[in-house]
Amino acid sequence: MDGHGNNEAYRAITVKRCSPTIGAEISNIDLTRPLADLELAELKRAFTENMVLFFRDQKISFEDHVRLAEYFGPVGSHVGKKTHSKPSEDSRVRRFHFDANSDGISGNAWHTDQSCAPIPPLGSILYMHTIPPDGGGDTMFVSMYAAYDALSARMKTYLEGLTALHDGVLIFGDGTPRAEHPVVIRHPESGRKGLFINGSAVRWINGVPKQEGIGLARFLIEHCRMPEFSYRFRWEPHSIAFWDNRCCHHYAIADYFPHTRSGYRVQIEGVSPPSL
Ligand code: SIN
Repeated sequence: MDGHGNNEAYRAITVKRCSPTIGAEISNIDLTRPLADLELAELKRAFTENMVLFFRDQKISFEDHVRLAEYFGPVGSHVGKKTHSKPSEDSRVRRFHFDANSDGISGNAWHTDQSCAPIPPLGSILYMHTIPPDGGGDTMFVSMYAAYDALSARMKTYLEGLTALHDGVLIFGDGTPRAEHPVVIRHPESGRKGLFINGSAVRWINGVPKQEGIGLARFLIEHCRMPEFSYRFRWEPHSIAFWDNRCCHHYAIADYFPHTRSGYRVQIEGVSPPSL
């Protein structure tokens, strides 16, 4: 078994790991048509094992995009009130378009998507058709399993049962939900434990004295950013990144102004609140 928990060969699709910790590039697959049963079963296994999947040269339509998402669950909608990304002409798909006229970009901080929702999204599928001409606009991903695993046994015991408030108002303004979630959760499919703390939405940990809770939140948020837990994905036109919101965090790098980076994202609804 390798570091991603892989122990079985793939027969229908090709799965190439991107780093020892997180991410795999999937090839030998065409996302512009429905998947065969074995392709889909292997894709689901690759998703659970690798946390984020990347695809190249997939010129997908809105229908293709939604079909891929619906293999994993119903399409969800953004709970934020004020967002940089915008609805597209298809209500199931959000437009992620940023250029010289943008006043900011989405996801330019380490985060997991909308953890302020009582049931945060299961995952998101981001498709980019246009990328900046000289590179830039990469997305970084970290494994929250790796972040958890690297803690001491004493710290793991201490964190068990603690919760944190994920305040969506801090990110998306008034009217956005807030929700309390455990700091350590168990992934419903992999069975692995991971940290669930969102640097953009959490200011302290509950259940301990206030200053301790603030210091603890700061430590955990910083800890999750270690490069050793991460992988940096370089986009090409018509690439796709599909991440599991329950076990990885991501960061969109804002280094391409005034160039254009443009694509679409579909969000998949979560099934149950994060729990241990
Ligand atoms: C996001 O946080 O969903 C945006 C990621 C990106 O644009 O790379």
